[in-house]
Amino acid sequence: MKEHYTGTATNRVDGRAKVTGEAKYAAEFEVPDLLYGVVVNSAISKGKITRIDTSAALALPGVHQVFTHENRPGYTWLDSHYQDEDSPPGSPFRPLYNNEIKFSMQPIALVVADTFELARYAALLVHAEYESQPHETDLEANLPKAYKPKKYKSPPPSDPRGDAPGAFAAAEVKLEEAYAHPAHHHNPMEMHASIAIWQESGKLTIYDKIQGVQNSQKYISNAFGVPQEDVQVISPFVGGAFGSGLRPQYQLFLAVLAAKELKRAVKVVLTRQQMFSFGHRPFTIQRLAIGASADGKLESISHNAFAETSRFEDYNEDVVIWPGVLYNCENVEVSHQLVGLDVYTPLDMRAPGGTTGTFALEIAMDEMAYKLNMDPVEFRLKNYTDKDLNKDKPHSSKELKECYRQGAERFGWAKRKMEPRSMKEGHQLIGWGMAHGAWEAQQQEAAAKAVLSPTGKLTVSSATADIGTGTYTVMSQIAAETMGIALEDVTFELGDSTQPKSPLEGGSWTVSSVGSAVKLVCEKLQEQLLKLAQKMENSPFSDAKIEDVSFENGQMFLTQAPATSISLQAILAQDEGQPLEAEASQKPDKKQKNYSSYSHSATFVEVKVDEDLGTVKVTRIVSAVAAGRIINPKTGRSQILGGAVWGIGVALEEHTVLDHTIGRFMTHDLDKYHLPVNADVHETDVIFVEEKDEIVNPLGAKGLGEIGIVSVAPAIANAVFHATGKRIRELPITLDKLM
Ligand code: MOS
Repeated sequence: MKEHYTGTATNRVDGRAKVTGEAKYAAEFEVPDLLYGVVVNSAISKGKITRIDTSAALALPGVHQVFTHENRPGYTWLDSHYQDEDSPPGSPFRPLYNNEIKFSMQPIALVVADTFELARYAALLVHAEYESQPHETDLEANLPKAYKPKKYKSPPPSDPRGDAPGAFAAAEVKLEEAYAHPAHHHNPMEMHASIAIWQESGKLTIYDKIQGVQNSQKYISNAFGVPQEDVQVISPFVGGAFGSGLRPQYQLFLAVLAAKELKRAVKVVLTRQQMFSFGHRPFTIQRLAIGASADGKLESISHNAFAETSRFEDYNEDVVIWPGVLYNCENVEVSHQLVGLDVYTPLDMRAPGGTTGTFALEIAMDEMAYKLNMDPVEFRLKNYTDKDLNKDKPHSSKELKECYRQGAERFGWAKRKMEPRSMKEGHQLIGWGMAHGAWEAQQQEAAAKAVLSPTGKLTVSSATADIGTGTYTVMSQIAAETMGIALEDVTFELGDSTQPKSPLEGGSWTVSSVGSAVKLVCEKLQEQLLKLAQKMENSPFSDAKIEDVSFENGQMFLTQAPATSISLQAILAQDEGQPLEAEASQKPDKKQKNYSSYSHSATFVEVKVDEDLGTVKVTRIVSAVAAGRIINPKTGRSQILGGAVWGIGVALEEHTVLDHTIGRFMTHDLDKYHLPVNADVHETDVIFVEEKDEIVNPLGAKGLGEIGIVSVAPAIANAVFHATGKRIRELPITLDKLM
């Protein structure tokens, strides 16, 4: 019997290493003779450094150097046009490039000392004088300066379909509202950290917190003008990232600079406060105009977004693609404009654009359902689309209707009374709300290497990452099942830039991309095994083609004659005990071009709102997800649970507050930046709806990293409306807004 590892709930293969501390994160590697770097950040948000005095810091015994723009070596930043794998159009920020300050808390110096404590103390003694210039950090005040960038990172659909303004004017039922999604900052448990080790040969070994070691490798190669093969970046474990680790951050450049100049090993770890000095989910204002017929058919949707970006890069995300993905409407126009501000460039954060856009669109659709006096699920069903109307292509699979059905049933949606404030329980106003969402299922080219040892142990590797999502486990499952060997006999290795090329771990495409490469490389090994078996004397496989054989229980079988088998170890013995090796790169299949592929979710939420205090408790969430084949229902469920928890934060808590008088994000620690804690999270139910997809990739799996978050916040906001009768269009929904 073939073991079906995929589709089976499987414990994390790295679980033990993680809970015992054996798993090492970037800052934890033990390196001899290590020096410590502490970053000094700018006190102003725009202007110039006129003087920087490092003498008091340098005078302390044990302080090795203070790096600033004044002593930055000339071999750095020679290519000013270099962009990393996740750069938006523009010119990326280059630490210590010159004396210009472009955003508050910009790094202006790195103090390097024998101990962390000494470096931290010395950093306080670095004295900078500035010439401030007026800054602009206020998105709303600068909306008149909004522009469409020449080049979009993620271009919105540019051509309108039909005549949205005309259809809106003629529509029987209309809605026109604006929605505000605040800035959010990344708060993974692990802070950004790099250890750079200079070697006698001039080569560099670097431990870095990153979602793609080869992205850091190329970045360092470029920033320092050194060959890529002289830079090895290692990152076997990442303590949360979800976008914050897609781009190399400034601690990496600074650690490498110090290591090269001092010819030593240097560690730089950012503080929690410094985690607020780079990329964030951008403050985005969305205007929606929706028209419908009295019987609930959508006639017109206009969805226009205005989001902040920095002065040096045009960051945008997929905020306005959702009407075309989710609704059947003939007249649609969308736009995405940017407002340049004196802030750091925004950065991808879990379902970038999807979280933001779905929040506005799905509250607006709930508002329309109320104007039409239609059940919100019924309204969505009435305007269901089988096609992706942005691309005018059919979906490779789409089981969203089944998400509505199973989600509603599990939740008990049929018992809902439409009228707000109608489901009270003492002082508690009970609200039931729902929303749906989608996330694109993409496949990128990825490579993997497989080595089968003479004892039948398989090692597969690819330079991908595991940001806690379960990469190690899922890749091991795919390899074990394909090769027909025990899961325990498989080791998957990742997080080393010398491994086969992998895309960044992001975009929910790792299973699809790297997983498909793992499957392919195992199939290559099988071809080699067959060839070896055919060399054996009187081989029963001599005429067999690869289609004629199967692999189970560590054996190769003739599929038509299952009694004919040979163990992989016996085949390998033919090759004088040499391990068998294969390497393969898997590209997306051309047939994908004719289809659009998205994962889908429908989220049903119950809230209880205290009538007197305005406090909101999310008491129940049912999240029904259709995402193709689920390779590991256990780690997959954790992804959706995590998305639900983060969605609670998005709806009710998260908000980085910017003080425009000084142009700085002020809520820069976990005391003031609120995230959901255990007390905020109650019953959460995950349903995986069965979905078959033979187009999306060779595994039929769509990815689960992002679909879990997109529809949660609007479902909560809609439940809050149902409970209270108050429509809150600005996140987070804090109690002051409900009183
Ligand atoms: Mo994700 S925002 O691509 O880590």
